[in-house]
Amino acid sequence: MSNIHASNHPLVAHKISILRNKNIKPKQVRELMHEIGQLLAYEATADLPVKSAEPQQSPLSTYPVVQLAHRIGLVPILRSGLSFVNAVQELLPTARVLHLGIFREKLSLQPVEYYNKLPSEPNVDQVIVLEPMIATGGTATAAVSILKDWGITSTIKFITAVASRQGLDKLHKKHPDVEVFVGVIDEILDSNGYIVPGLGDAGDRLHDTP
Ligand code: URA
Repeated sequence: MSNIHASNHPLVAHKISILRNKNIKPKQVRELMHEIGQLLAYEATADLPVKSAEPQQSPLSTYPVVQLAHRIGLVPILRSGLSFVNAVQELLPTARVLHLGIFREKLSLQPVEYYNKLPSEPNVDQVIVLEPMIATGGTATAAVSILKDWGITSTIKFITAVASRQGLDKLHKKHPDVEVFVGVIDEILDSNGYIVPGLGDAGDRLHDTP
């Protein structure tokens, strides 16, 4: 799966191994998610196209100006995707934030869309989906279908802290063009759709909900 980019950055591995620990407090969960999101965003943005603009003057000479060529949209999947928004916006301050609410129905584990803040016409050229966990792959697959139906034709990228192998396979099978920048891939998905060892319910750990 050439479009699945598992990070081999030691800081990502180190921070995820702290994040997995059930004894850390929500504040630390949020801080670690922020840091991991930023490191993964650095990797996910390495091939963003650039364009030249009017040369400017440094204290010593004129210099060529480089700008990002694409308007970028960040698509946090509520709730846990919110934990990556500020982290990525610090790197891409002009990015638009386009919220999508998709929850996993408890028994069927099927994705249900309950909130969609995409404007009627696409106002971005490229999107990065912020989804800290890809478990069954159902939500991620549904999010990509929504974005493609909306009119996104450039490569859709994901930033994900922990994914199951099964979820990535499902996403890749339906949308082989999607690129996933993932911190770590776990092999086990339990019968309730939780990743093992995983980190538990990301939304609950971030927001301190039972
Ligand atoms: N969502 C989570 O937050 N954690 C899992 O393990 C699976 C889905």
